[in-house]
Amino acid sequence: MIPFDALLVVALYATLAALAVAAVALGVLYALRGRSVATQLIVVGAATVLATVSGILVISFLMLINDHDRSVVLAVVISAGLVALGVSVLLGRRLVAANRTLVEAVRADRFRPPSGRLPAELAELSRELEAAYDRLAASHEREQALETSRRELVAWVSHDLRTPLAGLRAMAEALEDEVVADQDTVQRYHGRIRVEVERLTEMVDDLFELSRIHAGALRLSRQRVGLADLVAEAVAGAEALARAKGVRLHGDVREGLPVQVDAGELGRALRNLVVNAIRHTPSDGAVEVIGEVRGGEARVTVADACGGIPEDDLPRVFDVAFRGEAARTPGGGAGLGLAIARGIVEAHAGEIGVANEGLGCRFEVRLPLTV
Ligand SMILES: Nc1ncnc2c1ncn2[C@@H]1O[C@H](COP(=O)(O)OP(=O)(O)OP(=O)(O)O)[C@@H](O)[C@H]1O
Ligand SMILES: [Mg+2]
Repeated sequence: MIPFDALLVVALYATLAALAVAAVALGVLYALRGRSVATQLIVVGAATVLATVSGILVISFLMLINDHDRSVVLAVVISAGLVALGVSVLLGRRLVAANRTLVEAVRADRFRPPSGRLPAELAELSRELEAAYDRLAASHEREQALETSRRELVAWVSHDLRTPLAGLRAMAEALEDEVVADQDTVQRYHGRIRVEVERLTEMVDDLFELSRIHAGALRLSRQRVGLADLVAEAVAGAEALARAKGVRLHGDVREGLPVQVDAGELGRALRNLVVNAIRHTPSDGAVEVIGEVRGGEARVTVADACGGIPEDDLPRVFDVAFRGEAARTPGGGAGLGLAIARGIVEAHAGEIGVANEGLGCRFEVRLPLTV
């Protein structure tokens, strides 16, 4: 039996020898820090074997074990160490291979997480990469849709502005040259010129509003407004249009709680919805504007008898410059009304949506209630 004191001495020398090897190993690992994990694992394996061997050599040098024991222990330690080194190499290679499949997946056009089982850290990295790619793809899609609609807007608006301008010029020239002389035609021309100028003014005004919304420059001056007043105002503003078209327009408020909104801006958004509803409803049809409080929100719905919007168009009606087939006629709208309505509602932290229902479609504006 070896005395305890001697055992302490052995432990002390073995520790010192191992620390010396560890210091060298750390230096080597530092120098190799940019190299493959496999290489670094081999260094760790070799350092473990060397630490043990150096301990044995030191205590045999101090003659704490005899030559025979030393040879036996060294043989055992070296063969076990070589096996451990082999395991390190295998582990290193597996890590390198897993990493390579991940790198290949990242290099592919569309990232798909590798199907094989990855070590926990790499699996987490793979999940994060997948989420990041999804976010990137979604934002790329949004950007492209925005770019397309912007391009379409420029094309359509320049067409929409140019056509009435050409008409205005022709009428003005005819009046100037006195090509039209009879009183009736002259009066008709003046009337048309006024109508076209009003339409162009509205369009330019809409464009200005939209650019303010997109630039985030819409400044809301909120005040407490009754839901009933908002609905009444929207209905009153479109009454003349409804009468001229023979559409029955009806407003109703079931519960008139106040909302904290910019009455001017929100009124504009609702007016756009109501005007659309009247425009797309055949004469003798009905348009209903309803204000109510449901699910802790104020809601204004505008239901019409347009016959439904094609399913494919539903998600696009709020896009800038989107106009349904029927609306792409000279004299039709510019496709700005709903984009403006959405911008204004979202600036109020509200939501806007549309669905086909009954004889037509139903636009719905949801706003947070005043706290
Ligand atoms: N109430 C509705 N019923 C049926 N279709 C609608 C209705 N409201 C909007 N749409 C469709 O959505 C498109 C976009 O509407 P939006 O108000 O943005 O543009 P617009 O009315 O064509 O032009 P603008 O409002 O700029 O004068 C319309 O062209 C139409 O096809
Ligand atoms: Mg419109």
